[in-house]
Amino acid sequence: MRNDLVSQRAQSIMDSGSFQLVMDYFVNTYRKNVLESSDIADFTFGNPHEMPLQGIVDALKTWSVPRNKDWFGYKNSEPNAQAVVAKSLQRLFGMPFEPDDIAMTTGGFAAITTALKVVADSGDEVIYSLPPWFSYEPLCSEAGVSPVKVTIDLDTFDLDLAAIEQAITERTRVVIVNTPHNPTGKVVPPETLGRLAEILENASRRIGRRIYLVTDEPYNRIVFDGVEYHSPLEFYPYSFMCYSYGKTLLAPGQRMGYVAMPPTMPLDERRELREAISAVQFGSGFLFPNALLQHAIGDLEAMTIDIDHLQRKRDHVVDALREMGYEVHRPEGAFYLFPKSPIPDDQAFTDMLIEENVAVLPGVLFETPGYFRICLTANDEMIEHGLPGFARAIERASVEIAAD
Ligand SMILES: Cc1ncc(COP(=O)(O)O)c(C=O)c1O
Repeated sequence: MRNDLVSQRAQSIMDSGSFQLVMDYFVNTYRKNVLESSDIADFTFGNPHEMPLQGIVDALKTWSVPRNKDWFGYKNSEPNAQAVVAKSLQRLFGMPFEPDDIAMTTGGFAAITTALKVVADSGDEVIYSLPPWFSYEPLCSEAGVSPVKVTIDLDTFDLDLAAIEQAITERTRVVIVNTPHNPTGKVVPPETLGRLAEILENASRRIGRRIYLVTDEPYNRIVFDGVEYHSPLEFYPYSFMCYSYGKTLLAPGQRMGYVAMPPTMPLDERRELREAISAVQFGSGFLFPNALLQHAIGDLEAMTIDIDHLQRKRDHVVDALREMGYEVHRPEGAFYLFPKSPIPDDQAFTDMLIEENVAVLPGVLFETPGYFRICLTANDEMIEHGLPGFARAIERASVEIAAD
């Protein structure tokens, strides 16, 4: 029987595989075992496990004092915020970004949905790589576009360019690239980005329609070992960079981000797209950040969590896990590890970890069984408390393998 209560749009979001899996994990595992236990080391979601940066608190206090009657009036992309972002992007990527090409959004989610909806229509295809951030599929469903999934090279965690090229059809409108990557922490190297740009340029010519790149980069300031970070938009002019302040500030509940178009995109197209982006943000439910965050952006832009501390946590956990026998890479950015599960059934293994008071996300949530994700926003005490649990779980897994 047709369910007339829920719209087809809502149903399609609920039906999208990753949404169901994440909700199921949230309700049946996270809520029961993690939220309700004080004894568990929480390596699941990218939430803070320490007090917020004092600078955020100070900036919000300072900028909450109204300077004029419009202080808390309706705000779209405010010129002061656009100017701050354009300057910061110029500093980071050495390109003369124009403030008008910056659309301020309520975080990365809104940036991605805006970028998708501004160029892709129902029936258009959007290519992205597995393992993906698990919200791409629901965002595609809501936008009415069809996801086309390819897999990264699981040996190097780099993009599989041949797979992307093969997946392109006449209906391809967008390719999403996420770097630094959630969940692997891979920073896509410039050689790969250059070759991807060539592929997209040639394919756009071949199919007679422009393919756009949505570059999902909320972690682009979280890189380790002095790695020189390059954005995909340095290589391909037809790009929308989607950014969120939620990661660098580790304050994901304060919703601010942006979509940026590079100055290399032809000006007449950018002019048309600026208007269209604003229209989509308006029509999708006013996806602009609230007034206070936009007032405070000059201060917020300059702040970051302690990346050296994060790098020390990465090294400590990677070294300890390798010592125990886990197969795990050392990521170049973001705040995740993506080790191999010692047994093929990653869900069974993550259940075993829960029994050892350690919570991580199984690879199936990232459509990549046989792995699991560790989030390094866990604090130092959680890490110390959690490591013996990882050791006990891999021992139990080896006993199980031996018994089989
Ligand atoms: C790869 C990726 N893109 C986008 C986002 C969305 O960021 P926000 O929640 O700040 O909008 C996330 C958040 O986890 C992410 O990991």
